[in-house]
Amino acid sequence: MSSRDQFSTKIGFMLAAAGSAVGLGAIWKFPYMAGSNGGSVFILLFILCIFLISLPVLIAEFMIGRRGQADAVTSFKTQAPGKPWYLVGYLGMVISALILSFYSVVGGWILSYLARAAIFAVKPTDGSTYAELFTKVIENPIEVVMAQGAFILLTILIVQAGIKSGIEKASKIIMPLLFIFFLVLVVRSLTLEGAMEGVRFMFVPDWSLFTGETLLLALGQAFFTLSVGISIMITYASYLGKSENIGGTGINVALMNIFISILAGLVIFPAVFALGFEPDQGPGLVFVILPAVFEQVPFGGLFLLIFFILLLFATITSSISLLEMVVSVAVGDNRKKRVRTSWLVGILIFIIGIPSALSFGVLSDRTIFGRSIFDAVDFLTNNIGMPLGALFISLFAGYYYSTKVSKAELNTSPFMYYLWLVLIRIVSPIAIIIIFYTGLK
Ligand code: PHE
Repeated sequence: MSSRDQFSTKIGFMLAAAGSAVGLGAIWKFPYMAGSNGGSVFILLFILCIFLISLPVLIAEFMIGRRGQADAVTSFKTQAPGKPWYLVGYLGMVISALILSFYSVVGGWILSYLARAAIFAVKPTDGSTYAELFTKVIENPIEVVMAQGAFILLTILIVQAGIKSGIEKASKIIMPLLFIFFLVLVVRSLTLEGAMEGVRFMFVPDWSLFTGETLLLALGQAFFTLSVGISIMITYASYLGKSENIGGTGINVALMNIFISILAGLVIFPAVFALGFEPDQGPGLVFVILPAVFEQVPFGGLFLLIFFILLLFATITSSISLLEMVVSVAVGDNRKKRVRTSWLVGILIFIIGIPSALSFGVLSDRTIFGRSIFDAVDFLTNNIGMPLGALFISLFAGYYYSTKVSKAELNTSPFMYYLWLVLIRIVSPIAIIIIFYTGLK
């Protein structure tokens, strides 16, 4: 073990795990998923799914990783020799690569906006709207592919440098700054005339909007936002020493994510209603509404630029975890191979992601099961791959581990331990299977 990197401080691990979790899921995806799926109903289901399903699985992943002290596949192999559990690690590897393939597309959009913000050009010219500006950006095949490539390049450069120098440092400054920025924006958005309509949309549930699909999407979002189900947190926790309180870390990460998601919602929805936009406009929502909110702030252009820089960092701390997971399985502890493999895997993911990048423009009429290529990869990963991985991880931690082992690992009060045990053994697997079944029908 001494030859492996370890997180140097407790707070380092916490920030890295939070860095992986807090990203586009909370800031970009949560608002548009809520906006397109009934607002408050989606939000409520999402929070329930986090506490009942996704958080217990997150803690299970921490457990498996710390006990394994190796990449996800090796962690399963050493703890369950001769059994097929290690396939869960490979599933995570494939799904991580696919997630990064479309995550980098959105990362590219951020770079595109950042470049425009830097010259104060996120202003629709000649009477066009912010929505038209967004369409113009994502339709342009050369720009989206180049921006996606640039985003992956940044990710590769950090991952090839290794866990300590890259991930830990990057996570430390960004998160608090992002919090503060959001708080200021929330105040601006909530004081717009007509803002309360947006608050109602977020918090007063209209149960007639409830469907099995909403539940499946809320579950997918709960996994996506905590980076759970694809062994990423196994990978991170493998760099962890014995003294860490994994239950507490898990709870913190979950709360932080819910908090940022709600803050993002409180910036977006009041503004949507106050400024006369539609909540259900899909992936462009944040890109359209945020510049409109900043327009209402003094020195808005400058703050928009700073905001996109912060958002880029939050996005990169997530994308490096995706690439790190794949690279760590591919190279194990062999540091010599790390650099070359980071490049190889990164370039491969870039190529796989090109159709997703183009699916808003030249490939927009290509569909897979009625979805655009981008949406299809998103659905396959979030709503099939992650729940499936989470199901196996629940079973592994809940049943393959003896209660003696999991109790010692969690090292918490009997109440909290048995609560976790019931969730991981019964609630999480059954809920995943039922939601799967009803959502996919
Ligand atoms: N949780 C990250 C986000 O919300 C995305 C992610 C998913 C990262 C899965 C790693 C694994 O942006």
